[in-house]
Amino acid sequence: MTVEIRIQDDDSLEVSGKFDLFDEDGNSYPHHGKLRLCRCGASKTKPYCDNAHFEAKFESKIWA
Ligand code: FES
Repeated sequence: MTVEIRIQDDDSLEVSGKFDLFDEDGNSYPHHGKLRLCRCGASKTKPYCDNAHFEAKFESKIWA
């Protein structure tokens, strides 16, 4: 199983592959494909990105 995580400045985390997401109670949510996880905290559909980072003017430089 190969999972790829792409990090871009001022944006979400794009995760692709076959993997399970786990909530704090240990429940797993199998996923296969591509999704974007929020890292700005503004999404109304957490843990997923809903593009609220644009309105929130989220800034984070990864490799700075
Ligand atoms: S990173 Fe996109 S809504 Fe938070």
